[in-house]
Amino acid sequence: MNTRDLSREEARTLPSTSEHYMAFVGPPDQYDFMGATQFSLLCHLGLRSHHRLLDFGCGSLRAGRFFVLYLNPGNYVGIDPNDWLIKDAVEREIGSDLVEMKKPVLIRSDDAATAPGPFDFILAQSIFSHAGPDLTRRALHAFAHVLAPRGLCAVTFIHGEEDPPDGWWYGGVTSRTKVRYRESHIRELVEDAGLHGCPIPWHHPRQTWWLLGRSLPDVDGLVGYKP
Ligand SMILES: C[S@@+](CC[C@H](N)C(=O)[O-])C[C@H]1O[C@@H](n2cnc3c(N)ncnc32)[C@H](O)[C@@H]1O
Repeated sequence: MNTRDLSREEARTLPSTSEHYMAFVGPPDQYDFMGATQFSLLCHLGLRSHHRLLDFGCGSLRAGRFFVLYLNPGNYVGIDPNDWLIKDAVEREIGSDLVEMKKPVLIRSDDAATAPGPFDFILAQSIFSHAGPDLTRRALHAFAHVLAPRGLCAVTFIHGEEDPPDGWWYGGVTSRTKVRYRESHIRELVEDAGLHGCPIPWHHPRQTWWLLGRSLPDVDGLVGYKP
């Protein structure tokens, strides 16, 4: 049997990055929490149903399934090069009726510049933790291009003390599986794209959340922020 066909319960014990929509994107027993925490963060940051959201590297709609339900029709845009993840998520988590009703825009690509902006919010969860500086730089420039003037990006990085190599690094595919960035390097990449950024104290089990924007609101006063 192909691992893709395993039930939700059977998939919970698969190693991360296994070929199953719940496992490919991270530890399958955290599929629920890792989606819910992204949704909670963006609502906390001011996301409302009329906003437009780009979920860059949306994977198997781990977070996307909450946003699709919440946002007005057409306002969720998910991009991922592995479209089997989107296909399996639609089949097994969302259902074609919801897709018909909420009209999410689901694009097979690894290039954020292909997304039909402008966006009030951009999400990139566990993408720059696998992307070298070449890909991160390209994505941040594209984000700056499609971000609405008062829009916000919520993205994650793994902090570390190394000079990360270029390219895409992912378990099951490449020898290295993670990319770590010095905080000063992250600031340099963010500023090079014409954005400002700072880490924010939102819990993540393995990474650090950063908030990016053309200008950043006071992090302590984020609840109710109107992009
Ligand atoms: C760790 S998963 C995170 C998925 C999703 N953001 C989430 O939190 O559930 C990384 C995702 O990046 C996608 N990906 C692969 N290559 C990529 C690239 N070059 N640029 C952006 N995303 C890529 C993978 O298909 C996968 O869905």
